[in-house]
Amino acid sequence: MKHFINIRDISINNLKKIILEAKKRKSKRKNFNTLDADKDSPLKGKLLIQMFEKPSLRTRLSFYIAIKQLNGGALTLRPDELHLNKGGESLSDTAKIISTFGNAFMLRTDNDKKLEEFKKHMTIPIINGLSFSSHPSQVLSDVFTIEEIKKKSISKLQICWIGDSNNVLNSLIEASVKFSFKLNIGCPKKYEPIKSLLRWAKKNKGKVNIFNDIKKAAMGSDVLFTDKVISMNDKVNKSKKLKDFKNFKVTSKIMSCAKKDAIFLHCLPRGSEVSNEVFLGKQSKVWQQALNRIYVQKSILLYCFGKLR
Ligand code: CP
Ligand code: NVA
Repeated sequence: MKHFINIRDISINNLKKIILEAKKRKSKRKNFNTLDADKDSPLKGKLLIQMFEKPSLRTRLSFYIAIKQLNGGALTLRPDELHLNKGGESLSDTAKIISTFGNAFMLRTDNDKKLEEFKKHMTIPIINGLSFSSHPSQVLSDVFTIEEIKKKSISKLQICWIGDSNNVLNSLIEASVKFSFKLNIGCPKKYEPIKSLLRWAKKNKGKVNIFNDIKKAAMGSDVLFTDKVISMNDKVNKSKKLKDFKNFKVTSKIMSCAKKDAIFLHCLPRGSEVSNEVFLGKQSKVWQQALNRIYVQKSILLYCFGKLR
């Protein structure tokens, strides 16, 4: 049984297969309605149970549509309507029930340990739909979007991240090692990525460089990423953190440091870390990026069900 919890745990062979499958399936969906099933109906009759302990728009919609397009179905649980937590039902019993009623479980949680606990007690695949420390389905989908737009392997591109060292960046660092692309990170000194992850990247021949000057980070890049300075449930002094990031905003001036044909990506939702001009400008591919989540979620599901071709 295959789980999808972190990019670092998945072989590059399987990661590439996931991307390729997404490409194949996307190309076959011209003239399909959103909920029409793919012709081969690979997950006919399968139920994906999803639970969000934090807000979500894109991940919720894309997993729902993904399983429907594979001819399965989805049920979304609200954590406040379960007996788990306040009602006193144990995680292991909850996991057992979810495993016997459903065929795969997607969880968005603040608590990375909870993903591991569920994994321990589940007999069905578990998918990380964002945790405190990672957002693997987002980043894998972003690799797909970049290769789709740039029409070349991401290993030949220079990627730049400007902003907070959060869950999305952690997964991007893992992806940069796995897919072997150069990653420049531009962030304030005291918000650099966690040392253990950087050590892991270095040990695995990662090409990760950190800059405290965003112009230097952006210089010559093919792709510029950013994300909110304040993530969901970020337990920080918000006004202080926003002030610390005052000079780390993606503006047209920063875009002009990157390559002429560079693209701008943002997982959404957005805050004040990007100017309207960039976000709504020609180089921004954020809407295509968001919609592509559907295609990569489909492949992630097929990977978990052992059905990748
Ligand atoms: N990018 C992303 O995961 O969006 P949601 O939080 O809306 O799911
Ligand atoms: N870093 C953001 C990503 C949202 C999709 C957060 O965790 O809130």
